[in-house]
Order: sequence, then structure tokens, then C-alpha cells
Amino acid sequence: MFAQHIIGLSGLVAAALFILGLKRMSSPVSALSGIIVAGIGMVLAIGISFLDIADLSEASRVHSMSNIVLAISALIIGGGGAWWSSRKVAMTAMPQMVALYNGMGGGAAAAVAAVELARHQAASLIILIVTFAGALIGSISLTGSVIAWAKLEGKLKKPWRFSSQRITNAIVFIATIFIAIAAISLRDSTTSSLLTILFFMGALTFGLMMTLPIGGADMPVVISLYNAFTGLAVGLEGYALQNPALMIAGMVVGSAGTLLTLLMAKAMNRSLANVLFSNFGDIAISSDSGVHGQIRTAEASDAAINMRYSSSVIIIPGYGLAVAQAQQKLYEFVKLLQSAGVDVKFAIHPVAGRMPGHMNVLLAEAGVPYDIIFDMDEINDLFPSTDVALVIGANDVVNPAARTDKTSPIYGMPILNADKAHQVYVIKRGQGKGYSGVENLLFYEKNCSMVYGDANAVLTQMVQAIKDLGN
Ligand code: TAP
Repeated sequence: MFAQHIIGLSGLVAAALFILGLKRMSSPVSALSGIIVAGIGMVLAIGISFLDIADLSEASRVHSMSNIVLAISALIIGGGGAWWSSRKVAMTAMPQMVALYNGMGGGAAAAVAAVELARHQAASLIILIVTFAGALIGSISLTGSVIAWAKLEGKLKKPWRFSSQRITNAIVFIATIFIAIAAISLRDSTTSSLLTILFFMGALTFGLMMTLPIGGADMPVVISLYNAFTGLAVGLEGYALQNPALMIAGMVVGSAGTLLTLLMAKAMNRSLANVLFSNFGDIAISSDSGVHGQIRTAEASDAAINMRYSSSVIIIPGYGLAVAQAQQKLYEFVKLLQSAGVDVKFAIHPVAGRMPGHMNVLLAEAGVPYDIIFDMDEINDLFPSTDVALVIGANDVVNPAARTDKTSPIYGMPILNADKAHQVYVIKRGQGKGYSGVENLLFYEKNCSMVYGDANAVLTQMVQAIKDLGN
């Protein structure tokens, strides 16, 4: 009994630590401590599950000992694998990793549901419904996340589509729900067990079929959606197990994932339905509508010297900066400008890069102070009074077509007003399009010059050019 009190109390403390950790993750200044706080909550939550054994009878304790050995082995293998892989993963491969870990969370929730359904077929109707709901959502999240991982990793290059695909998917989904209803109605019978197996097959298949037609370009939003699914599945299984820590943690993840998904969709000016069903991003868009004028180029050294003698520069980092791993060189360049008296700021678009916060993490890695990093809404009005906007490996997030071209797939997406600065320099390797595949009208503007090359190589030349000037 005493152990149960300790377990209940520790569960609440763990849940409070998750919420506090999440709150601290909302700012880059406190994010690291937030991760540590949530991590302590997780260690506590895992640790207290072992306390359960203290409350068991002698007979079941013997049985549980073997489970504990299995659980500790799983913890060592899983924890060790995660530690090793997260230390060596490249920043650009982070979305894939999130997809995999998220899928495992969904899979774990579905596995817990499977065990509960096998053990307690005589459970109350409400518990059965909740367990099936968690199993459905967790299974979809598992197979969907694996497909998302495969697409981002380049293992699945083309979306899999066929006519009447949506109807087929709807049939699989509805059939799975009916099977669950039948299994619940026939509980305690052998037929129910068979139906439960069929239900899991249907749910896992639906996860695959729902994700396969979505273009690789939309995977970050899909991963965030599955993240919300996993949280919901864990919360539902927490209810089935009557475990408050699981319930609260699941709901926190579920709501955070939902908000993040909506935020990403809003920052791209797209609805969730459009992300899931529109085939955006993998349609080759050849239309260069709205393109006028010609592209100008500049030498890295000339651009650097111009910035050195200007009074204000706003830097817009994008996915290409992460690809080039040029964040350290960039900060070296920024420090040289600052010591020459130039006011330097960073402008971060909410979906710059390939995952939320991608650019903030990249800049933090290089040691860029937070007080010169601004969100889109905070900085957009400053561009008209800024001497130079330096765009590094960013494309869609500065494309004025989003404002003017109603036929563009990015029409309506809020963008950074780089084109309104007096002079714009864009560092990129060549004519490569951005994530959306559309031409960027900014590159043809009179006040814009392209500095071609890998971001790291160009920034190295820029740093050298400023150093060559002496003081
Ligand atoms: P993108 O539009 O993808 O453009 C990146 C640019 O970087 C490319 O045009 C590429 O041109 C250049 N580049 C690649 N490697 C480079 C290198 N080594 N050195 C220099 N340049 C390099 O990136 P963005 O502006 O960051 O926009 C993000 C896009 O992703 C948006 O369309 C957004 O909607 C989408 N998206 C983001 C998220 C999140 S949460 N971040 C989620 C879903 C979708 P070259 O090939 O010519 O070099």
C-alpha cells in the first residue's frame, strides 16, 4: 500500500517535471535546462515503474523478476542505441531521427494495448474502447512514421499513388473500426482474439497507406502530426492502465504536437488537409510565372566589403546553411562585422530549414547570442531601413511570389521581407530550387546579387576579405 502511495506521488512529480520542462523549451535561452528537467521526469517515471514489484505477492514477484530482467535489458539496449545514434546524427538528418523515435513511441503504446487486450478481455466497456482507440492511433503512428523516415532518408523516392486511393484508404480505415467494434462486442471469445489480430493488421496497414501518397517534402508536418498521435495513444493507454504519469505525459505530447502541426501549417499558409491530401512539393513546377529581369552576380569579397562599410545587416539563414554546416564560419564573419561597428541581426522564418527551431539550434551551436536573433514578426518591418539583407541557403522563405503570384503554390505563405532591404546578397550553390520547387522572384530583383558557391566556402572568402582590409 505504501509503495502505491510512493508510486502515485512520484508519477505526479514526473508529470509536473514534463510540463515544467516543456515550458522551459519554449525559449532558446532555457531550452537546454528544459530538456534536462523533462529528462529527470522521464528517469523518475521509468524508475517508479520498478517499484510496482514491492507491492506484489510472493508468487507474482518471482514471475515479475524475469520481466524486470527483460525490462532492464531493453532499457540498456534502447537507451544505449539512442545515446549513440543521437550523438552521431547530422543536424540535417534530425527530422528522420525524430520520425523514428516518434514511431517507436506509437509502437510502444500499441504494444501496451495489445498486451492489455490479451490479458483483460473482460475489462469494462469504457476501458476496452479506450485501449482500442490508443491501439489504433499508436499503430498508425508507428507505420506512418517509418514511411516518413524512409522518405526523408531517400529510401522511398516516389510517392505511391493510384486512382481511388482515398476511397481505398477510407475503406481500410472504416473496416478497421468495424473490426474493433466487433471485437469489443464479442469480448471473452476466441473470435474476439482473432478479430483483435485483424484489427492490428488493419491499423498498421492504414498507417502505411495514409503516408505513402504524401510527398517527401511534406514529411516534417506529417512527423509532427504523428508526434501528436503518439502522445494521444500514450495518454489513452495511460488511462487504460490507470497510470496518471502516462496520461499526463501523453496529453502534454499530444497537445504540443497538435499545436506544432498547426503552427507549421499556418507558417506555410496551408491547411492540414492540404498537407495530407494535396500532393504538394513533389509536383514538378516548371512555371516561371512572374519572372522578370535578369540575375546579377557578385564576388564574395565585394559583397563582404560592402557589408563591412554598411551600418546595418540582417542575415536570413535557411536550409542550405545547415547543409553546408557553415554556422561557425558565419558567426566568425558576424563578429568581424560587429567589431567594425555594423549592426547585425538574424531573421528566422518559422519554417526555415526542415524542422521547427532548426535555425535557432544551428545558430546556438555556433554560439550566436540570442539577443541578435529575431522572429519573422519582430523583424519584418526593419528591412526597408536596412542596408543589406544577406540570405544564406534560404529560398522559399524570401520568395516575393508568396505575396504577388496567385498561381504559385506558396502564395499566401508569410515571408521575410528581404527584398525590401536596400541591397540583397544571396549565397547559394547554383540554380537549385527550394523545397517548394518554385522559381524565386527575389533573385531577379534589381537590388539583388547572387554570390554563388557552397555557403561555407563563400563565408570563408568573406571572412578573408574583411581580414585583408585590416582594421
Ligand atoms: P529551401 O527553400 O529548401 O532552400 C534551400 C536553398 O539552399 C536551396 O535553394 C539551395 O540552392 C540552397 N543550398 C543547398 N545547399 C547549399 C549549400 N551547401 N550552400 C549554399 N546553399 C545551399 O530552404 P528554406 O528557405 O530554409 O525554406 C524551408 C522550406 O522548407 C520552406 O518551403 C518550408 O515551407 C519547408 N518546410 C519547412 C518546415 C520546417 S518546420 N522548417 C517544415 C515543412 C516544410 P542550391 O541548390 O542552388 O544551392
